[in-house]
This record gives sequence, C-alpha cells and structure tokens, in this order.
Amino acid sequence: MKNVYIHKNATELAANLADRIIGLINGRSADRNDFFMAVSGGNTPKKLFARLAGSQEKITNWNALQLFWVDERCVPPDNEQSNYRMIRETLLDKISLSEKRIHRMKGEEEPGAEAVRYGDLVASAIPRKDSIPAFDLILLGMGADGHTASIFPGSTDLFESGKHCEVSVHPETGQTRITLTGRVLNNARHVIFMVSGSDKAEMLLNVLKGEGSTHFPAALVRPVHGTLEWFIDQDAITGL
Ligand code: 6PG
Repeated sequence: MKNVYIHKNATELAANLADRIIGLINGRSADRNDFFMAVSGGNTPKKLFARLAGSQEKITNWNALQLFWVDERCVPPDNEQSNYRMIRETLLDKISLSEKRIHRMKGEEEPGAEAVRYGDLVASAIPRKDSIPAFDLILLGMGADGHTASIFPGSTDLFESGKHCEVSVHPETGQTRITLTGRVLNNARHVIFMVSGSDKAEMLLNVLKGEGSTHFPAALVRPVHGTLEWFIDQDAITGL
C-alpha cells in the first residue's frame, strides 16, 4: 500500500513524522516565505509536537510557519480539552514562533460566529488552488470510529460542505466543535494522517482498504492535487 509508513512504536512514529514535517518546512520553494500548516489535536500528536519542539536546530526558520488548526473543541483556550492548549504546552511554549503566525480557532466564542470568522480567515490567508485554500500541510488524526478533524460518521454532509469551516457536535459527548471541511482538507499539497494504537486497527484497515468509505470521514480524505501519507505504528496495523 503506497505512502503507508509503519513504525515500531509511537515514539519512532513521532520521530520520523517530525523529520518529514521539518523536511517539508525547510524544503519549501525559495520564493515562499510562508509554510501554511493546519494541525489536529487529540492525544496522538503530543509526542510529535514534543519532538518538533526538541528539533529546533533542524528547522532553518520556524518563523516561516503559519500555524492553523484543523479543529477545536468549543471550550476556552486554557481548558484541558482545548487543542490549542495542548499544542501551546507541547510545542508553542518551547519555540520562538511569532504570535502573529499562530492562528487558533477561538473555542470560547459562539460556535457559529467562530466558524464563519475562521472560514473567512482561511479564505483570506491561505494561497488558493482552483479557488480553494490550499494548505502546504494538513496533519490529521483518526478516531476508532473513523472520524477525522471533527467530522464524525453520519455527518459527512459537513465533509461535503461548500464552506471552509463548520460547527459539529461530538455524537457521544455532545461537545460542540469547530472544524475545517473536506473542501479544504482535500485541497492541501500534503495531507498526513498520524494513527497509533490497537484500538484503531480495525477501522484503519477498513479505511486503507476503502471499505465502507462513504460512511467514514477519514476514508473521504483523498487530496485532489496533493499527496496522502499515513504514519502509523505496529499496534495500529493488523491484517494489512
Ligand atoms: C480532536 C482531533 C481529532 C483527533 C482524533 C484522534 O480534536 O480530537 O482533531 O480529530 O485527531 O480524534 O484523536 P487521538 O489522537 O486522541 O486518538
């Protein structure tokens, strides 16, 4: 299976993915001052962000980064559920990235208004391809239920939305979220999934094989122009 990179464990996965991301940032074309990256939250990427924070010497220019979020929980930025807080603690507090280049989704704002604001921000700040914002890199995770970003099974209408950003609701917790839509996810130059842990193995196999894809948002991520890569660990792979 192409572009599926299997690692011994979550630590090795994080190390190799950090190097991949650093290579993309350093390798951006000379005429590009900015590298537009949108990141997901959750637990899996914590090791990755810690690794990136410890790799400062490898990145020629952190301030090339324009950092955006794929999704956010509708909680204040200091809430333990906040994706912003997690990335602030694991990465941003340890690197010298200008605050002007950190574009968080404001989970504390009214969700509908914030989805509009962030969608407008993405529309204005991100270079376009085929008139749709085209991030240089979008980093995604996958839930055991096949969700990605904050688009959950049964809400694939959000994936197909004509907007850049939508409000979603977690089907189990009822937590309101803000999420980029499939329109933006599938227009990136590079999309990388980071998947770790045995609890995701069955779903990952389904998604990689393309089974039931109309139902699982993670299987709907098919970059129109860009590359799709899967960075996974042994625990997340069975039967491949
Ligand atoms: C979030 C993430 C979400 C995450 C998956 C996997 O806000 O939770 O953006 O899409 O990537 O739920 O989460 P874990 O890495 O915690 O398993």
